[in-house]
Amino acid sequence: MENTIKYINEKTNNFKPEIAIILGSGLGELADEYSDIVIPYSDIPNFAKSSVKGHKGNLVFAEIKGKKIVMMQGRNHFYEGHKMSEITFPIKVFKKLGIKTLILTNAAGAVNTTFKPADLMIITDHINNLGTNPLIGPNDDDFGTRFPDMSEVYDKSLIELAEKCANKLNIDIQKGIYWANSGPSYETPAETNLIRILGGDAVGMSTVPEAIVANYCGMKILGISCITNSASSEKLSHEEVIEAANKAKIKFKSLILEVISNI
Ligand code: HPA
Repeated sequence: MENTIKYINEKTNNFKPEIAIILGSGLGELADEYSDIVIPYSDIPNFAKSSVKGHKGNLVFAEIKGKKIVMMQGRNHFYEGHKMSEITFPIKVFKKLGIKTLILTNAAGAVNTTFKPADLMIITDHINNLGTNPLIGPNDDDFGTRFPDMSEVYDKSLIELAEKCANKLNIDIQKGIYWANSGPSYETPAETNLIRILGGDAVGMSTVPEAIVANYCGMKILGISCITNSASSEKLSHEEVIEAANKAKIKFKSLILEVISNI
C-alpha cells in the first residue's frame, strides 16, 4: 500500500483528490474528456489490470467543475478471476488519498419491468449474491471496524442530490436495488424472476464489493446504474450492453457533471 500511495503522489505531484468515480462498462468517456494526469493501472504498484472490453484500465486525475477528481476508467471484476482484495484495493488507496465521496457507476440489466434500456437508475441499496464478502480475512482497524454497519450504504443526501440534478436536467431517473451476481454468464429467465421476487430492480456483476469496502472505510457513496437491457427477456451479448451504454452516455455524463458541481 505505502509504495502505491508514494507512486501516485509522485506521479500526480500530490494532487489530493476529494471525489473518486469508478466508471463502468461503456461509461469511461468522462475520463477521456477530463484527463489532466493519466496513469495506466499496469504502471501502479499493486494494481490489478482490467481485461474487459470497454474498460480501459487507467487511473485518471482531473479538476472538473472546480473539484479535484480521481477516476477509474474501468474496474476489475470477480468473474475475471480477481480476488476480492484486488477488486477493492483501489478503494483503500482512495481512502489513503483522502477521498470522502465515491461515485460508483455500472452497466446493469433491468429486472424491474418498468425500466427501459438506456434508463439511469440511482442505487438505493444492494443485495450481495456474490457468495463472498470483500471484508473476509483479518481486519485492518486503520480502515474500519470488524462488523461494519450496512444500514445506509448509499448516502441519502447524495441520492436526493442526484434526483434533483436529474430533474433539473430533464433526465428521467429510476431508483432501485442493485443485485450483484458473479457472472460472467448472464441470468436465465428463472434467475431473473427469482431476483425480482427477492427485491432486485437491476442486476449486474460489479459495484457491491467496492460499495461494501467504501462504506466500511467511512466514505459517502452514490451509485448509478446505466440500464443496458432487460435481463434475459431476449438473447443478450456484451456488444449490446456497450451499445446501450453508448446511447445513455450523454445524459449519464451531464448528470455526473451536475452532481459533481453540487457536491
Ligand atoms: N445481467 C448481469 N450483468 C449485466 C447485465 C445483465 O443483464 N447487463 C449489463 N450487465
